[in-house]
Amino acid sequence: MGKTFGYCWGFFCLLIIPFAVADWNILHQRTRNGLKISLKNYCESWRMNVELHNIRDFEVVPEECTSYIGKYVRSTQYTVDSERATEECLVYLSTSCDLKKDSRDAWIFDIDDTLLSTVPYYKENLYGGNKLNLTSLEEWMGKGKAPALDHSLKLFNELKSRGVQIILVSARREHLRAATIDNLVNVGFHGWAGLVLRDYADELVSVRTYKSDVRRKLISQGYRIWGIVGDQYSSIEGLPSAGRTFKLPNPMYYVA
Ligand SMILES: *[C@@H]1O[C@H](CO)[C@@H](O)[C@H](O)[C@H]1NC(C)=O
Repeated sequence: MGKTFGYCWGFFCLLIIPFAVADWNILHQRTRNGLKISLKNYCESWRMNVELHNIRDFEVVPEECTSYIGKYVRSTQYTVDSERATEECLVYLSTSCDLKKDSRDAWIFDIDDTLLSTVPYYKENLYGGNKLNLTSLEEWMGKGKAPALDHSLKLFNELKSRGVQIILVSARREHLRAATIDNLVNVGFHGWAGLVLRDYADELVSVRTYKSDVRRKLISQGYRIWGIVGDQYSSIEGLPSAGRTFKLPNPMYYVA
């Protein structure tokens, strides 16, 4: 095993732990315990363990799984998985949230791969198989052409109609504000109560710390944060939290 390295760019911090060997060997097609498996078994198990947060801090999708991950993020299964998550938000809202309707009931959303899809960008980058290039990712974001994730748009509108204040908290940087607003509005999102992006000071801390700090401020302003929907654990972990948190699938990249 090699040394551990940490890298930070504006957007992401990564820990790189170089293990001696990958645990998949295309020739052997067996797990470490000798169970015979297919590449699909291997990649589905990788994806599942990313979602379970057992696999963390991955820098790229394993080379042998980029095609599998590409298929998943464009599949009906991805849509069904995401729709199920947003349906559970509505179940929670109806059964467990005693909304006060005083403009202080709040719900937090991420933007990328929560409201807007970055799949068209990652399609050109091996679905996460290429190392992050922040310059090219921000260039793409700056064009404001990301499509809406329809399941999230439905939830967004439902929350709005119930008088919940919607606050968008994103690791996107401030210079992308105008492009982000244009993009969101063009694909149907409007009427949010707040849009928080990262300024220079926020870039000095992890995304998880930045997002926790935002929640602390919102609570001190009197907001009751009933829920968070995000595609990254860094959006839903850390204190203070929310009444409940909901994780959307995203096996393409990891934000710490
Ligand atoms: C990152 O993207 C920029 C803009 O597209 C490009 O000019 C640059 O060569 C890329 N860097 C790497 C290391 O691929």
